[in-house]
Amino acid sequence: MASFLLLSIFLFASVATILSHTPPRELIAFPAVSHRRHTSSPPCFPSLFSFGDSKADTGNDQAAFPFESRSEHLPYGRTYFGRPSDRYCDGRLVIDFQAQAYGLPLLSPYLRGVGADFRHGANFAASGSGTLPNLTTSPFYLERQMHQFKKLKIRYLQLQRSDPSVIPANLYFGGGLYVVSTGENDYRAGIVNLGLTAEQIKSQMVPRVIEAINSTLNGLLGEGARKFLVVGIAADGCISRLLTLLSSGPEDLDELGCVEAVNNYVRYHNALLQETVNELRREYPEAEIAYGDYYGINVELLRNAHVYGFNETKRACCGVGGPFNFNSNVQCGETGNVEGENVTARACEDPYLFINWDGIHLTEHFYEEVAKAFLHNRFISHPITLPPSCSLNFSTFPSYFTSSMRSLSRPISHMSSSRTNNR
Ligand SMILES: *[C@@H]1O[C@H](CO)[C@@H](O)[C@H](O)[C@H]1NC(C)=O
Ligand SMILES: *[C@@H]1O[C@H](CO)[C@@H](O)[C@H](O)[C@H]1NC(C)=O
Ligand SMILES: *[C@@H]1O[C@H](CO)[C@@H](O)[C@H](O)[C@H]1NC(C)=O
Ligand SMILES: *[C@@H]1O[C@H](CO)[C@@H](O)[C@H](O)[C@H]1NC(C)=O
Ligand SMILES: *[C@@H]1O[C@H](CO)[C@@H](O)[C@H](O)[C@H]1NC(C)=O
Repeated sequence: MASFLLLSIFLFASVATILSHTPPRELIAFPAVSHRRHTSSPPCFPSLFSFGDSKADTGNDQAAFPFESRSEHLPYGRTYFGRPSDRYCDGRLVIDFQAQAYGLPLLSPYLRGVGADFRHGANFAASGSGTLPNLTTSPFYLERQMHQFKKLKIRYLQLQRSDPSVIPANLYFGGGLYVVSTGENDYRAGIVNLGLTAEQIKSQMVPRVIEAINSTLNGLLGEGARKFLVVGIAADGCISRLLTLLSSGPEDLDELGCVEAVNNYVRYHNALLQETVNELRREYPEAEIAYGDYYGINVELLRNAHVYGFNETKRACCGVGGPFNFNSNVQCGETGNVEGENVTARACEDPYLFINWDGIHLTEHFYEEVAKAFLHNRFISHPITLPPSCSLNFSTFPSYFTSSMRSLSRPISHMSSSRTNNR
């Protein structure tokens, strides 16, 4: 009896070993070429799930609306990928750096068809999205992203029954890290499109946005999620587009030289978000809910820009015109009429020196600094405990090591800037 049991365990283990070398077909719409793990040490989390907007979108917006977005063209993606990679950035986003540091493949967007690989999690973040329905141009507001997650979970549970080689569902969902980073697009719509004041945003919008985030966090906890990184909003008043649209003189600016009204409601949002997260920690003592102070790290990077190798804090790298190199009508990569002249909004020579990428989004270098801070538990409260087997892997940070090395060897930038110039 005992030997039979042992044999069964042995047989099961052998079969499982063989199966684990075969990629689970059902989860891969196409043989996965680009998303294999290259790491030797085990990943820090079995899976990673991401919810939010363009700060974390690795391709949902482009999968839903093909050929409609600027980020499908160079110079987007030129720094790291050497080609457009469906991200509103010159390279990687914070979620990409996190995945790499944790030893996981870059996250597939949930809406991707061909080549998607959900064996280590999925990304639901969608560019332009917010938390409230019908407010921003994206249909993928936070609750929809949550519904997509629930759908993925149902499919995964079905799949697990037929394919024992996938990570067991309790580990996949219960051991995964859930990153939630959203809210700024609701407020941008409020202040730019609806013309609300900071006080109106604070009284009318912030409580509803916080409620939507709270409801999603509660929903995820109810689905078995136990490890979270909930991220606040960055110093959005320092973004080139908002500086261009909302400041007409020094009286509109705070001590950072950013739109005071915007940074004001951002701080209020972050304060309420932290209260909500504190409440959740009390309700779910078994869960680990870290808070990421995006505003704090953003201010640090602005104040001590030179320490981190930045020399442009508010001007966009890719754009044209005005004090912040931003024009709503001719944005990064586009050609159009600016003051009677036909001009193309091109990228700067070295995005590594810039905090702002295209007037609306930030550079890979900025995201790298945010990711490094968060991974080292700087600007993080209640950090998540990592398993002892986890060693953070920074070997891919940054794309190039120093400015001088970058200028000596930059095949990718050369190629992409000449192609950009021909557009
Ligand atoms: C760190 O990541 C790099 C690039 O993915 C990989 O080649 C290397 O093996 C990793 N190191 C460890 C210790 O896992
Ligand atoms: C959003 O818009 C749709 C279509 O106009 C409408 O049916 C729906 O009720 C709206 N939802 C909310 C929450 O306002
Ligand atoms: C968050 O949601 C929970 C469950 O619905 C509720 O008990 C709690 O009061 C909410 N917190 C806030 C700050 O709205
Ligand atoms: C940033 O550095 C470049 C190259 O060294 C230099 O030309 C430029 O003037 C600097 N800009 C600022 C704002 O310091
Ligand atoms: C502006 O330049 C683009 C690209 O070079 C060209 O296709 C377009 O016809 C030009 N428009 C005008 C008004 O000159």
